[in-house]
Amino acid sequence: MFRTNNCGELRSRNTGEKVTLAGWVKRSRNLGGMTFIDLRDRYGVTQIAFNMEVNAELCEKARKTGREFVIQVSGEVMERSSKNKDLPTGDIEIKAESLEILSASETPPFTIENDTDGGEELRMKYRYLDLRRDPLQRSLALRHKLALETRKFLDEQGFLEIETPYLIKSTPEGARDFVVPSRMHENQFYALPQSPQIFKQLLMVSGYDKYFQIVRCFRDEDLRADRQPEFTQIDCEMSFVEREDVLQTFEKLARHLLSSTIEVELPEFKRMPYAEAMEKYGSDKPDLRFNMPIHDLTSEMKGADFKVFDNAPYIAGINASGCAGYSRKDLDKLTDFVKRPQIGAKGMVWVKYNEDGSIKSAIDKFYGQDDLRERLAKTNAQPGDLVLILSGDKKPMQKALGELRLEMGNRLNLRKPDDFAPLWVVDFPMFERDDETGQLHAMHHPFTSPVAGHESLLRSEPEKALANAYDMVINGVEIGGGSIRIHDRDTQKTVFEALNFTDDEAQKQFGFLMDAFKYGAPPHGGIAFGFDRLAALTAGKDSIRDFIAFPKNNAGRDLMIDSPATIAHEQWNELRLKPIDDEK
Ligand code: AMO
Repeated sequence: MFRTNNCGELRSRNTGEKVTLAGWVKRSRNLGGMTFIDLRDRYGVTQIAFNMEVNAELCEKARKTGREFVIQVSGEVMERSSKNKDLPTGDIEIKAESLEILSASETPPFTIENDTDGGEELRMKYRYLDLRRDPLQRSLALRHKLALETRKFLDEQGFLEIETPYLIKSTPEGARDFVVPSRMHENQFYALPQSPQIFKQLLMVSGYDKYFQIVRCFRDEDLRADRQPEFTQIDCEMSFVEREDVLQTFEKLARHLLSSTIEVELPEFKRMPYAEAMEKYGSDKPDLRFNMPIHDLTSEMKGADFKVFDNAPYIAGINASGCAGYSRKDLDKLTDFVKRPQIGAKGMVWVKYNEDGSIKSAIDKFYGQDDLRERLAKTNAQPGDLVLILSGDKKPMQKALGELRLEMGNRLNLRKPDDFAPLWVVDFPMFERDDETGQLHAMHHPFTSPVAGHESLLRSEPEKALANAYDMVINGVEIGGGSIRIHDRDTQKTVFEALNFTDDEAQKQFGFLMDAFKYGAPPHGGIAFGFDRLAALTAGKDSIRDFIAFPKNNAGRDLMIDSPATIAHEQWNELRLKPIDDEK
């Protein structure tokens, strides 16, 4: 037997047992007559003791084993004289009787500890070493558990897990496709799915009724902490349902996942129309762990000869409660924050409500204290508070205030990782207009149905039409999104028209779906959760990278296998492709 036990399970009750353990040398310490090795595997760490007086040869051998050597040790479980309360196995140690070096290790490029000294790049390059660290092992174990509980829950609800293909053709989620050249079909390409959207709808036409899949999706888009080019969805679809059925079912799934993994009972899911989320929180994924809403002050602040406000189409502010004590330096930092190109404000006006009842602001001279207090009554600012005001075009300033609100939430420690504030954002617009091209785009995707009564708006005032779509948002993260689908050809045609698809284009790209609708399509709807995001959220983390075993870096590269990479000359030829350099 290779090992009798793992490195995380022995306790005082095992004292006296003869055991064999195998694992990695986490560290070794030489204390004169004694040498100690901390032996690590997935399950934990156990201390192994070598005594010079009892077996000098063995002790010498132990001294030669460096960090990350793989060893096998046999010996007796002993009660420790000085116990380590921080370690589950800290009451015992193994009095070593034999030691086998199974595999030596070079000095690793960074220390494999919870708090490692390795930089991001280095750890990505040696991901297999980074994955030995406890925080990553816990992340992947949590991910496994979430997948298991998802399957259990959905199976109990009657969902079938069905796989859909990866080599397909362009899908409609709105990012760029990753494409794969076909060797057999010259000048033709497969696209990797951005989601299984069309296939799951076809499965509804086929009568599968309740489908799900834990599935990889591929999107060629700008990467961020919560975006990877390949990521995983819990993708779901149901027939003969209305919005309420979908929301109820998946609220239950979210509840089940958090209670079965981290024993958190989610509070009630709020419902918030998209328009309200934008007005009040400057975001379609508001973090409701704290309030601090945006107050529209456009009409209140005009007419005092302060040109910046008089000329602004939109003026609004937030009340950062308790922040009147902010120094000039703090306020300058916040101003710099809103002026960053990604936030896009030109400047920021602050109004301090001092504890003594006075008001201080650079715009005092335009308003006077009493007038200012009155005009800002909406913000409910009290002595001790700080009101922060931005002005400019409505949409960008709402977003900027949304970012400022989150920044203040961070500064005031109001975004606690173990608080959970879930909601459904509903009533999204069907379309949004691209400012540059003037074209309408589907806000969700082109198979989303309008809310009841808005069908005629699709033609007359498409920008006013609301979609029967919903996003599940928890703690400011869009965890999932879905919609009730269009299931009749006429509405689908109207939507394609609004999107400026010609009949030909629509037929070419999605003709098979339109055709399928000719043969009896049930009303249906669904949702997809971002599984990596769900795992990160459950663990209270912002970045999804540590919940994916082998992620890409921010430039979309895998630094470990060094991909993307060029291909062999024969492959270029076989695919009848040419490297760009050859064309010059
Ligand atoms: P959507 O595009 O909103 O909907 O995607 C669903 C969820 O997937 C997650 N997500 C991502 N996670 C990590 N990296 C990415 N690049 C990434 N992109 C999206 C988000 C998001 O909420 N077919 C529809 C679903 C449907 O209508 O049923 C779809 O894919 O958490």
